[in-house]
Amino acid sequence: MASTQAAQGARGAQVLVASNRGPVSYAVREDGSLHAKRGGGGLVSGLSAIGPDAGALWVCSALGDGDREAVRRGVGEPGVRMLAIPGDVHSDAYNGIANSVLWFVHHMLYQTPLEPVFDGEFRRQWASYETYNRAFAEALAEEAAPGAAVLVQDYHLCLVPGMLRELRPDLRIGHFSHTPWAPAEYFALLPDDIRAQLTWGMLGADRLAFLTHRWAMAFMDCAGQVDGERIQVSIPIPSKEKTIEHSPTGRPPFRTTRIGVHGLGADADFLRQRAHEADVDERVAALREEIGTAPDGSARKAIVRVDRTELSKNIVRGLLAYRQLLDDHPEWRGRVAHVAFAYPSRQDLAVYREYMAEVRRLSEEINSQYGTPGWTPVVLNLKDDFARSLAAYRLADVALVNPIRDGMNLVAKEVPVVSDEGCALVLSREAGAYWELREDAITVNPYDVMETARALHEALSMAPEERAERTKRLAAAATALPPAQWFVEQLGALKE
Ligand code: G6P
Repeated sequence: MASTQAAQGARGAQVLVASNRGPVSYAVREDGSLHAKRGGGGLVSGLSAIGPDAGALWVCSALGDGDREAVRRGVGEPGVRMLAIPGDVHSDAYNGIANSVLWFVHHMLYQTPLEPVFDGEFRRQWASYETYNRAFAEALAEEAAPGAAVLVQDYHLCLVPGMLRELRPDLRIGHFSHTPWAPAEYFALLPDDIRAQLTWGMLGADRLAFLTHRWAMAFMDCAGQVDGERIQVSIPIPSKEKTIEHSPTGRPPFRTTRIGVHGLGADADFLRQRAHEADVDERVAALREEIGTAPDGSARKAIVRVDRTELSKNIVRGLLAYRQLLDDHPEWRGRVAHVAFAYPSRQDLAVYREYMAEVRRLSEEINSQYGTPGWTPVVLNLKDDFARSLAAYRLADVALVNPIRDGMNLVAKEVPVVSDEGCALVLSREAGAYWELREDAITVNPYDVMETARALHEALSMAPEERAERTKRLAAAATALPPAQWFVEQLGALKE
């Protein structure tokens, strides 16, 4: 496929987005026909903001058999190119490296006495990660018009900027990290050559962007420690853009990679409208019914959390903190319910399946320990239902967002926007959203279950007026950079 010189710019996209998960997925129906399901999220609204005439193309990977079948049959959406990367290569790259190594490193999820182990199996999977990144780089090189802007997304595709720069030095290449970046000591768990490859891969970009200054600084720190001679990190006065100068030989010419920050916000217009459609109204009523009423006949209070069942979301310690609250403040028994929606994610990985089982087990334990005939302390739901999540946002008295580490956490930003009567936010200081929301949230150390229990009590006890006032300010901060603007801003900065 590498005859990119000839193919260069043949198809002529002006703006390209590359991500592992694309905006559409396919399932094969029983009758053999293909069913397309469209997704949402920041990139989808971002791309729609630049309009259908912008010459945009989204390059993504086929993820399952349905997607691969769609590619085989030549079925697709306009503006989307799905790469039929072989299933075993994709699985090694996505499950093996991206989700089991890079995700773990950036979120600091290893239980270090036993893991990670970088052995022959790791090296084999790493080769697949390279192959998978190369497939993206080659597709982008084929599709991009001369001088086009390419926005590469996330930890799945860290090697793409470097590979693409070699194939097409004319392109403007950006990379956006939707995750945190690891602290340098933790990044140094990776073998030296892998650290160097990741860093040089990223530095192929003209501009690297992150969700917060904290993650941008972490990247710069890591890059500086990989090779101080050849990679020179400069952090100028705060008002100036941060840059990294680098040269593979350590001699001039040095190339510059700029470092930017764009804190993705909630999409207020979409959320407010969607949260008042009939299916959400129905679910509000059903959920109220399920939560039930306190012994005095008033509506029970709801502590709501909505997450993927994701190790970094810290759902188990959230349940432990809730149990601690019921122990420390028996007056809440029967008067509160913990509504925990944790929808399945990355179920190919045993550690995710085990985590989900632990969430279920602990919820059942709390329910059998404290529950009464009229009161279910934990209302757990493990099935994904967006309308029901919005219903929970609307009626939440308290939102619990306590990740161990999180790039941003959009739930923390969405709840205040949608809340019917104001909601107190208990927020981890390790979430990217902390930096924008900390003044009006009750903030916690996510590992400190006692502190989290105290924060839940404080949140439940907050006066309605104060809650409403804080929610208003939280919603304003949460919507400062809506997805469309977030995308356009990055594109503009890349073209500067
Ligand atoms: C995070 C990552 C995204 C990813 C999403 C869902 O937000 O930054 O790149 O798409 O999680 O994870 P999944 O593995 O299901 O794509």
